[in-house]
Amino acid sequence: MRQLQGTSLCMSIFFLMTSFAVVIVVVITNASKGLSLFSLPSSAWSWSTGGIASLSSSSFSNSSSTDDKSQDGASNKSGLRRSKKKRDEKLGRVEVGLARARALIRDAMINQNRSSPLDGDSDYVPEGDIYRNAYAFRRSYQLMERMFRIYIYEEGEPPLFHTGPCKDIYSTEGIFINMMETNTRFRTHDPDRAHVYYLPFSVVMILDTLFDPVIRDKAVLERIISGYVRLVSSKYPYWNRSLGADHFMLSCHDWGPRATWYVHQLYFTSIRVLCNANTSEHFNPKKDASFPEINLKTGEIEGLTGGLPASNRTILAFFAGSAHGKIRPAFLKHWMGKDEDVRVYKNLPEGISYPDMMKKSRYCICPSGWEVASPRIVEAIYAECVPVLISQNYVLPFSDVLNWNSFSVQVSVSEIPNLKKILAGIPEDWYLRLQQGVRQVQRHFLVNDPPKRFDVFHMIIHSIWLRRLNVAVYV
Ligand SMILES: *[C@@H]1O[C@H](CO)[C@@H](O)[C@H](O)[C@H]1NC(C)=O
Ligand SMILES: *[C@@H]1O[C@H](CO)[C@@H](O)[C@H](O)[C@H]1NC(C)=O
Ligand SMILES: *[C@@H]1O[C@H](CO)[C@@H](O)[C@H](O)[C@H]1NC(C)=O
Ligand SMILES: *[C@@H]1O[C@H](CO)[C@@H](O)[C@H](O)[C@H]1NC(C)=O
Ligand SMILES: *[C@@H]1O[C@H](CO)[C@@H](O)[C@H](O)[C@H]1NC(C)=O
Ligand SMILES: *[C@@H]1O[C@H](CO)[C@@H](O)[C@H](O)[C@H]1NC(C)=O
Repeated sequence: MRQLQGTSLCMSIFFLMTSFAVVIVVVITNASKGLSLFSLPSSAWSWSTGGIASLSSSSFSNSSSTDDKSQDGASNKSGLRRSKKKRDEKLGRVEVGLARARALIRDAMINQNRSSPLDGDSDYVPEGDIYRNAYAFRRSYQLMERMFRIYIYEEGEPPLFHTGPCKDIYSTEGIFINMMETNTRFRTHDPDRAHVYYLPFSVVMILDTLFDPVIRDKAVLERIISGYVRLVSSKYPYWNRSLGADHFMLSCHDWGPRATWYVHQLYFTSIRVLCNANTSEHFNPKKDASFPEINLKTGEIEGLTGGLPASNRTILAFFAGSAHGKIRPAFLKHWMGKDEDVRVYKNLPEGISYPDMMKKSRYCICPSGWEVASPRIVEAIYAECVPVLISQNYVLPFSDVLNWNSFSVQVSVSEIPNLKKILAGIPEDWYLRLQQGVRQVQRHFLVNDPPKRFDVFHMIIHSIWLRRLNVAVYV
């Protein structure tokens, strides 16, 4: 911990990356001068085993729920100074808790067989190939449940804030916002106890409400979002303290990334949780998180899950959809109407049901469209059909935790002509393992209302938790 010296504001932010092994130190001398990066790791976040000393797990027990409620908000000078000091102490306590959590997760990574599932984990215990490191995930998930606290700024009115769409292609944006608003486990009303601060705007709602389809002026995003950050950063100390590094926004809209562009710190420093996770557009997996697009036409997932057993799946591969974007035209040109085993349609013929095709196909093809994410990925997972991903620069949802190679097939754009050969060449036992992986991973993509442990809502929260663990804020 650094001491404040005189009036100079001295903050340092440590980014702990690749399995917490690489530490980036960002020192800000004088907030207005911005960031200076001393070192940057080259690889993205991953959970491989690292060689870092561990703490004993018992040291964790006292870190949460010991905060007292303080009387902040005094209006005179000495009162302010005192409440600032108290606030710094509270930040210190928050950071001590996070440091313990990092150490415990590292411990679980290194001493795999020592970290047995702990209490409360009886309904589901993550294990197997679908995880990059099941032990680390178990521990991390459990710590998240015990200690993670999210503060939602209360400013802003519906429909632009605090609510969102719960149907159709951007449903996960509204589902998250609405579930977060009513959540009691992770939400705190005391900002001094929070690990992260949520900016609860909905890009979909802002565009639906204010965007003029004729004038097409995207300045509405700038006005609303810049205005909001200006408001919360002048009213509360939290944004300036971390330059936004412990703040997050979430959007499933194609323009989610663009919506954050107008506030430099939001774009480059804050945690952005996006469906459109395109690394060519500055999506940064070290601080940003990818979450899935789920097309809920009725707002319900009833009837969408399940499919034929592997041995009854008679169609090798299936796709139906328009020629959006750059990848699909080439794909359709090559495969539409060309092969009995690779069923590819722009428009499904009368009498053929899209969900039924997914339920009886072995592989479901999920090429990127206008943007990198595709709702087909989750549709395939629901239908227990092995997804075949054809995309570029796409960071897959929850790929910080999930090992996508164990339940999907990735085919590069240049291999589109070889698609059938690749899929038909996968041995039966490997296919069965992939399909088993799809069935196992399904729970992480399910939408439950109210949310259930390990479902899509909790996985999103967990992604945010990991990004927060990557940052330490010191004042
Ligand atoms: C937890 O707090 C109690 C009482 O404050 C203290 O006696 C104990 O040593 C603490 N345990 C740990 C692991 O810090
Ligand atoms: C300033 O605030 C402190 C603590 O709230 C209080 O004790 C003190 O009397 C106040 N001073 C003035 C001048 O209001
Ligand atoms: C893990 O298991 C192996 C073999 O079962 C054993 O040799 C090793 O000591 C164990 N490590 C820990 C940390 O328990
Ligand atoms: C945060 O910084 C901005 C810009 O420097 C400033 O206008 C604002 O008053 C600061 N907020 C607080 C709470 O001090
Ligand atoms: C799968 O196929 C077998 C015979 O090939 C049939 O007996 C069984 O009913 C089928 N199962 C389903 C769920 O369609
Ligand atoms: C990803 O971003 C790059 C750069 O803007 C863009 O050219 C590409 O089309 C994007 N990918 C998709 C699938 O939209």
